[in-house]
Amino acid sequence: MPLPADLFVILTLKSTVNLRLQHAALVDLLRQAYSAEKAASFAYQGHVASLSSPKEKADIKQVEMDEWEHRREVLKIMNEYGIPISRKYELKYYVIGKIIAASCFIIGRFMPIYFAGRLESGNVCEYFRMKQYFNSLGITKHDRLLYEMGMKEKEHEIYFLQMVQNDPLLPRFEKWFAWGAGSSYNNIDLDKKYPVEESDHYCPKK
Ligand SMILES: [Fe+2]
Ligand SMILES: [Fe+2]
Repeated sequence: MPLPADLFVILTLKSTVNLRLQHAALVDLLRQAYSAEKAASFAYQGHVASLSSPKEKADIKQVEMDEWEHRREVLKIMNEYGIPISRKYELKYYVIGKIIAASCFIIGRFMPIYFAGRLESGNVCEYFRMKQYFNSLGITKHDRLLYEMGMKEKEHEIYFLQMVQNDPLLPRFEKWFAWGAGSSYNNIDLDKKYPVEESDHYCPKK
């Protein structure tokens, strides 16, 4: 029996979409990034509430807004390929975000800033990795967006680093947690940025 025309189109489109994103690591990375952006936003809400400087409050509020924007952009990509939101990651990162937000009130000034910077440092390569994965499937249309989101995370990393760079605790934490003035989880230098077309050497696979 022939299929109704509309159903045939839907099935064809669906199979095309599924074929285009046969990349388990990329799908998982998108779903995880979508939920982790929420954790970051919650954490910054707590961070803003725990600070007293109006300037720092405004700056970190902007970082929170950037994270919500990233979440919206990642969702747009997921929707384009029919990738469902992960309930497991949503719950996990909800809890993580709320715990970090609450901890900002009890662990003093240095640690929330330090760990925010360290987290941002790791997030940078998630977006460059997505770009690499998409490119391995021959998809380049998300390159600029992913590049810009990765660069934004780098700006966040540097912002937090500058906030603690003169703190006497930094050298000790850098030794323990492998992030600080002389160590980063990515190889991007904002003072020597390569354009999106020449950004393939960012975040090389280990
Ligand atoms: Fe983000
Ligand atoms: Fe960020």
